[in-house]
Parts: sequence; C-alpha cells; structure tokens
Amino acid sequence: MTADYIKSVITTVADYPKPGIQFRDVTSLMQDSKAFGTCIDMLAEHYRHHQFDKIAGTEARGFIFGAPLAKALGCGFIPIRKFNKLPRPVLRQSYQLEYGEDVLEIHKDAVHSGEKILLLDDLLATGGTMLATIALVRQLGGLVEHAAFVVNLPDLGGADKLTEQGITCHALCEFE
Ligand code: PRP
Ligand code: ADE
Repeated sequence: MTADYIKSVITTVADYPKPGIQFRDVTSLMQDSKAFGTCIDMLAEHYRHHQFDKIAGTEARGFIFGAPLAKALGCGFIPIRKFNKLPRPVLRQSYQLEYGEDVLEIHKDAVHSGEKILLLDDLLATGGTMLATIALVRQLGGLVEHAAFVVNLPDLGGADKLTEQGITCHALCEFE
C-alpha cells in the first residue's frame, strides 16, 4: 500500500461547500480499512524517532486521524475544538480558511509549559486552521515544531506560512 493508493481513495467533490471549491473528501479514505490503517502506520513510522508529549488534533477530522496516531506514538491527545464545545476554561482564536472563517478553542490545562506537541489535521489548505492551532498551543507554553497532514494543497500556500512559523510539515499526499 502506497501514498498513491491513499490519494486514489480520496474523493473530490466540486463546488462544495461553495462554488469554485474542489473539496478533497477524506471520508472515502476513512471507509477503506486498509487505507485508513496505512495512513496511521505511515505517520507513526515518520515520527518514530521523535518524542512528543501530546498530539493536538483539530476538529473534526483531525480527531479521527490524531487519536490512533497518539496511541501508536504513545502520547496524549488534545482536541482543538470549534466555538463553545469544550466544557472547561479555554483560550480562543479566530481564523480564516479557504471557504470562510471560524473560531477554535483549547482547554487552558491541555498543555503544560515545555511540552512537545505534534499538530495533526486531515488537510492543509491556506493554513488558517493550523496557524490558529499553533497560536493556541504556543500561548500555553507548548513547543511546536512539527505538523502532520494526510493531504496538502500546495497551491493554497499553507505549508509556506507554517514554515515561516518554524514548523516542519509532513503530508502523505498532495493535490495540485
Ligand atoms: C477543513 C480541514 C482543515 C481545514 C484546512 O476543516 O479539515 O481543518 O479545513 O483549511 P485551511 O488550511 O484553509 O485552514 P473545516 O474547517 O472545513 O472544518 P470541519 O472539519 O469542521 O468540517
Ligand atoms: N479545507 C480547506 N480547503 C479544503 C478543500 N479544498 N478540501 C477539503 N478541506 C478543505
């Protein structure tokens, strides 16, 4: 099983959620047991020699890939959630993405100062979601140097923005 196979089971939906957007839908990948498991295995192999305390995964699909990766790497998992979903005191960050704007939150006690945090989401487009996540984790004193994705859309420039923030990105596949 290869990255080419992983890419082949991702569905493209034209004009969703807005006209002009080519939506790369990873739910078809998640439905394929071999492809889903291979994604987790490939990410775990890539980070095998790193030592992370926690993975921070962004709602919603960052949870689905992030939780099994946390298990595989032996770290904790932090859910970065949309507005008003977390029950205890939070930090909040608004951001823009390819097709709109939104708000992300993190529990204030999710990160202890000096912890090494791996960021994880299904897809990197403009980088707005991940830049907001980085800001939240860094405000809590987390050390962030790596971000992992199943899909990168390089034409939208997210990886360049993360590089400017000192983040090394790793994605399993790309769509032009
Ligand atoms: C998608 C995707 C990433 C984000 C990437 O989530 O899962 O989180 O967009 O875009 P960006 O790099 O331009 O920020 P979406 O905001 O659609 O939310 P959802 O997971 O709740 O559907
Ligand atoms: N998030 C931002 N842009 C996206 C796209 N083109 N496909 C899927 N998720 C996205």
